[in-house]
Amino acid sequence: MSGMREWYESKVAEVLIDQATLQRRVVELGEQITADYEGLPLTVVVVMQGALFFAADLVRAVDAPLKMIPIQASSYHGGKASRGSVVLSGIDDFSLSDLVDRHVVLVDDVLDTGRTLRRLIDYFTCEIQVASIGVAVLLRKPTRREAGFEVDLRYCGFDVADEFVVGYGLDYQGEYRNLPFIAVLNQEVTK
Ligand code: IMP
Ligand code: MG
Repeated sequence: MSGMREWYESKVAEVLIDQATLQRRVVELGEQITADYEGLPLTVVVVMQGALFFAADLVRAVDAPLKMIPIQASSYHGGKASRGSVVLSGIDDFSLSDLVDRHVVLVDDVLDTGRTLRRLIDYFTCEIQVASIGVAVLLRKPTRREAGFEVDLRYCGFDVADEFVVGYGLDYQGEYRNLPFIAVLNQEVTK
C-alpha cells in the first residue's frame, strides 16, 4: 500500500470525494434502484471501462435479481477533451436479444457533454425494444452539456465542477483507475 501512496501523492492535487463518501452514496443509489424496479426484469448495462468499479459496487447494493452486461463506447482517446462521434462495440447478439422487454439501467462514470449517453440511449430505445431505460452516472459535470445531447438522469452520484478527475474507475491516459477515491490531478500531469 505504501508504494501506491508514494505513486499517487506526487500526482494528485486534491481528493475530491473520499472512499467512504463514495460508498455511502453508491449504497443509497442501489437502494433507490431496488425500490424503483421491484418485481421487474432488470438488466444493468455497464459502460466500460470507466463505470466498472461504480457498477460493481452499485449492483451489490441492489437487493433484487438482475442481469449485467458490458458495452464499450468510444469517442475519447485518452486525452482530456471528449470529441467526435461515439462508436459502440463489445456487445454480442446473444446479449442484445436478451435485452428485449427488459428494464435497462445504463451505468456510466461521467455525464460531461452528454454525447456518449445520448448515443447509448438512442441505441437502446431505437434499435432494441427494451421495456424502459434509466440512466445512472457517478458524476455529473453541470456546465458542459452540449445542445442536442440532453440526458435525463434517474440516478446521479455527485455533481462536480468542470475539472478533469480520476480514480474509482476514471482514468487519465489509462492510468489512475485503481485509486479508491475521486481526485483532481496536478496540472503538471495533465498539461
Ligand atoms: P461525454 O460523452 O462528453 O458526456 O463524455 C463522457 C465520457 O468522457 C465519460 O464516459 C468519460 O469516459 C470521459 N470523461 C469525461 N470527463 C472525464 C473526467 O473528468 N475524467 C475521466 N474521464 C472523463
Ligand atoms: Mg466513459
